[in-house]
Amino acid sequence: MNIQSMIAERFGAALTAMGVEPAEYLDMIRPSQDPKFGDFQANFAMPLGKKLGKAPRDVAADVVERLEYADFLETPEIAGPGFINLRVKTDWLARLTQSESADDRLGVEEVTKPRRYVLDYSAPNVAKPLHVGHIRSTMIGNALAHILKFLGHRVVSDNHLGDWGTQFGMIIYGYRNFLDEVAYKEKPVEELARLYRLVRQLVDYYAAKGQESKLSDAVVEASNRLDAQKAVCADAQARDAAEKTKESKDALKKANKERERLSKALESAREQYDGARSKIDGVEKDPEVFALAKGRESIGQDVLNETSKLHHGNDANCSLWRQFIPQCMKDVERIYWALNVKFDVQLGESFYNDRLPGLVERLKKQGVARETEGAIGLFLPNQEIPMLIQKSDGAYLYATTDLATLEYRRDTFQPDAILYVVDFRQSLHFEQLFEAAKYLDMGNVELKHVKFGTVLGEDGKPFKTRAGKAVELRSLIVEARERAYEIVSANDAARPESERFTEEEKIETARRVGVGALVYADLSQNRESDYVFSYEKMLAMNGNTATYMQYAYARVRSIFAKGGIDVDALRREFADGTRVLTLDEPEERALAFELVKFQNALENVVRDYRPNFLTAYLYELANKYSSFFEKCPVLKAEDETVRMNRLLLCDLTARTIAKGLELLGIQTVERM
Ligand code: ARG
Repeated sequence: MNIQSMIAERFGAALTAMGVEPAEYLDMIRPSQDPKFGDFQANFAMPLGKKLGKAPRDVAADVVERLEYADFLETPEIAGPGFINLRVKTDWLARLTQSESADDRLGVEEVTKPRRYVLDYSAPNVAKPLHVGHIRSTMIGNALAHILKFLGHRVVSDNHLGDWGTQFGMIIYGYRNFLDEVAYKEKPVEELARLYRLVRQLVDYYAAKGQESKLSDAVVEASNRLDAQKAVCADAQARDAAEKTKESKDALKKANKERERLSKALESAREQYDGARSKIDGVEKDPEVFALAKGRESIGQDVLNETSKLHHGNDANCSLWRQFIPQCMKDVERIYWALNVKFDVQLGESFYNDRLPGLVERLKKQGVARETEGAIGLFLPNQEIPMLIQKSDGAYLYATTDLATLEYRRDTFQPDAILYVVDFRQSLHFEQLFEAAKYLDMGNVELKHVKFGTVLGEDGKPFKTRAGKAVELRSLIVEARERAYEIVSANDAARPESERFTEEEKIETARRVGVGALVYADLSQNRESDYVFSYEKMLAMNGNTATYMQYAYARVRSIFAKGGIDVDALRREFADGTRVLTLDEPEERALAFELVKFQNALENVVRDYRPNFLTAYLYELANKYSSFFEKCPVLKAEDETVRMNRLLLCDLTARTIAKGLELLGIQTVERM
């Protein structure tokens, strides 16, 4: 049940009866900021009054006159210039809460018009270890898949693995040139990752060397230009001091602006040069790597050749690829296991290889793809640059595969919507892809790039290891678990001997707490903003963290354990009407009111695919529970009726938190 929508529906009918198109006004019915003004407030009387040429208070009175409310609302109150304050009847709220408690779905209704969704998330390039950014795509996508399914939509989650790109050319090259056979026998995944990193380093090294002198010239040039502009600025300054006219002032402003621009250009030229230098030093200052680099000037091209041979079905390369993939996948699967993530299908880029030539031919025939500087580009109406779909050497690109994937999904899943949970840096790619989709006969499918920002280190820059490498997701999971283990052990040591965890329980609890913290910290952010990674914050017992939620849940469970309460009997007595829930204390009412907002929170998530609406809801719920718990004794309640009432509220709180966390991909613990 979504009370807010119910209110909106009633207002919609009243406004329509008055001959008013309701949509824009219904958006102005919101939860009240202050309980003084009731539970909801309708603030549209002012704009509507203006439109109708009537006093807002009169308009408000007209609307209320036509409003059908008495079954669940107190008499609406018109306040100030025409605010309509709405208060839900407490006995109605109690009945609703009781009925939601009797429902396995906690009162969350399934949508009447389910849509078919394809969710494209995680999709790592499997030749290299997953890094910190992958938690974002993986967990945001996972949460959206769970929530959409729970609301009754049909969802196919598809892991579009990067199992086919240049990275495999690198591994194949590495395998042929640098393999440590012993290491490969013992730990194949690590050895392949090492080969990938090494070859990548050497490719980057030679690329950087090739560009070094050009980049260094660019720095000199940019610096000269800036110096020249500084002189221009000084002149303009002197002129303006003498003339003080509008013209001289404008000229000075313009000169300074140009200096600003050139100084930024210099900065960026320096950064590029430094970047290249550090790649060069990285190799040349490491004698072992430097020795391997000698004589491999053509490595960049060689790697491309290996990739191209693979894509064109070369036996030797294909058989190596078939040997590597399961090894790479083992590593990826281990992470999914740790994160408790599953997919409905995993169709990687390689799956689409055979479809690419036909697709490009068709687009050429359609007249929308044609040659551009030796390559084949797709010319899109609203895009300046064409989208490349075949390189001059015949190789296909990331975009080509994505187009083939669209067609496959169209034919196989008939989706109403396809969501791509991918880093915001790929925005241009998806803009182009969605434009290009217009040539593919997709019907009116919603295509949406669910973009997300960057994970930052404490220094506010993209989160890197001390050595400047991407932080591996595996190491984050391990450390989060270790830190959680410390917390769990400390809590455990404070318990009487007889109640302590076994070692196994401790490890499992630490796993749930650690991984939960990591995942929740990510999902609780507005997905489009960057956020700073911090173990301390994410594992805090207080605040908007998984730890706090898991703790709130465990606390309820411990009340039931301590009181020796039979939960099933409790639920049954309220479900069959033997008992009737009442909400007598303001904190009980406030908690119940929050509990029945669960569906609303889930609908808010789905509106723009933002899981942080659910974490914010859970946090609010846990806070309402805390206030309730402080004011309203449960096990020591004054009598049996009150006690059972409050136990039901506790139970429903725990179930809502557990369900909410589960939808986010986070497990609960009975004790912590
Ligand atoms: N493998 C890509 C990467 O790591 C992400 C793929 C996202 N999905 C897609 N259909 N393009 O950048």
